[in-house]
Amino acid sequence: MKKISPKVEYIPPFCIENSAPATGVVIFGASGDLTKRKILPAIYQLQKQGLLNENFYILGCARTDIGDDSFRKIVSQAIDGNKKQAKDFCNHCFYISGQYDRPEFYQDIAKRILQLDSQYNIKCAHVFYLSVPPILFGTISDNLDNAGLAHCGSSPEETYPRIVIEKPFGRDIESAAKLDDALHRHFREKQIYRIDHYLGKETVQNILMFRFANAIFEPIWNRNYIDNVQITIAESLGIEHRAGYYDSAGALRDMFQNHIIQILSLVAMEPPAIFEANQIRDEKVKLIESIRPILPESIEKDFVRAQYSAGTIDDQNVPAYIDEEDVPNDSQTETFLAGKLMIDNWRWKDVPFYLRTGKRLAKRVSTVVITFKKVPHSMFASSGIDSPQPNVLTIRIQPQEGISLSFQAKRPGSKTCMGTIQMDFDYSTLFGVTPPEAYSRLLLDVMTGDQTLFARSDELAQAWKLVDPLLDTFRKGTCPLYHYHAGSQSFAQADQIFTDKSIGWCPL
Ligand code: BG6
Repeated sequence: MKKISPKVEYIPPFCIENSAPATGVVIFGASGDLTKRKILPAIYQLQKQGLLNENFYILGCARTDIGDDSFRKIVSQAIDGNKKQAKDFCNHCFYISGQYDRPEFYQDIAKRILQLDSQYNIKCAHVFYLSVPPILFGTISDNLDNAGLAHCGSSPEETYPRIVIEKPFGRDIESAAKLDDALHRHFREKQIYRIDHYLGKETVQNILMFRFANAIFEPIWNRNYIDNVQITIAESLGIEHRAGYYDSAGALRDMFQNHIIQILSLVAMEPPAIFEANQIRDEKVKLIESIRPILPESIEKDFVRAQYSAGTIDDQNVPAYIDEEDVPNDSQTETFLAGKLMIDNWRWKDVPFYLRTGKRLAKRVSTVVITFKKVPHSMFASSGIDSPQPNVLTIRIQPQEGISLSFQAKRPGSKTCMGTIQMDFDYSTLFGVTPPEAYSRLLLDVMTGDQTLFARSDELAQAWKLVDPLLDTFRKGTCPLYHYHAGSQSFAQADQIFTDKSIGWCPL
């Protein structure tokens, strides 16, 4: 296939970015991996971009008994920045240790917050980031309330303090509802920020701009023109050192119920009237509600669950899932899940959405691939071209972020010589930068109070409701667990999902 890079007229962009107001960020689980890998570098990035208020502080809270100085060493290793700027950032970082279930810990935190607020001239603007296992969400929010930290004034419009939580948001509908109740005991929905980091990825946000800021795509974005949609999140990584969490989650809870369904809802939702958090989330909920319920009897036909066996990735031998550190050797957890969903509404009736996610596949690739219908009649049939290839629009979420559109064109030379050409927009070539880290976007939005990129409670409830029959069938063991070699592009059972055998998975 020929690739062309169109000449792009670069018209000065129209950008709006609000910088954060004076804020105190309190991180529970401050000595943990997520804090080091994602949260601290993301906040530092905001400072480098001038988006952080100079009145800000980070108060790390965890069980490990260290003080401000040792915490600052951890911060400095995590951010790895230029000396002066990094030192200045570290000076805004503080630490307090204690036991999460002890009220005294929260009294100490409250005292420290009071003192830091007066030092940095901050009023109410607190963000509590719960980077801890979900089992602690209820305990921490109860204790924050008891220590007088869960409220700031009594106005129902008040959005402070804000609480940020990471997935898993429950294991099924019931546990998700319990978790929600525990948070809602002390916080209103507008104070709760549930992170799905895929929503913070630049190219995922671009789905809305692409669809709703261009007049040419929306008219054909429906069953009349689209044949099928494929959403893939493939990883070459395994489970790293997270067997404890992953083995009880599997691909369904880890990726499908959240990231895949979120992307699907952005690709398929109706346009809201304005770009505003609740209007967008209302449309996403409506879309998830219109996905055809999964019937237990059709699961074996429409879904494939599988687990990786030993194989080779990038010339390295990698072990089978069951031989990974801390995974039980009889584990029945899926590391790959693919399925077909239908959406019962006017726009999408009869258009299959093929979804897949898996670990230890050949490559790390996340894409949305939209295949349009073939031309209704080929006037080139007499020249032997019965059925020109359909147009395909590929949204590359990662890596090589961008969008490409394939179409048929005449090739030079003979009178009828047709070939597929790909028009390509490559994010880093055009903008000369790699897309910013999702966590920086999301943390800035928490500080500025924009919930657009965060999952609302009813969205999650609908997503759990949708996947509940899968959870139930997997639990009962009535859906076969297949195996694929680590490093596979695909495998026979994954391909059988297509009823129309002329369609197949897009290559990774
Ligand atoms: C996380 C999952 O939500 O997303 C991980 O828990 C997965 O298992 C990760 O590896 C993938 O994220 P990314 O941004 O690397 O595609």
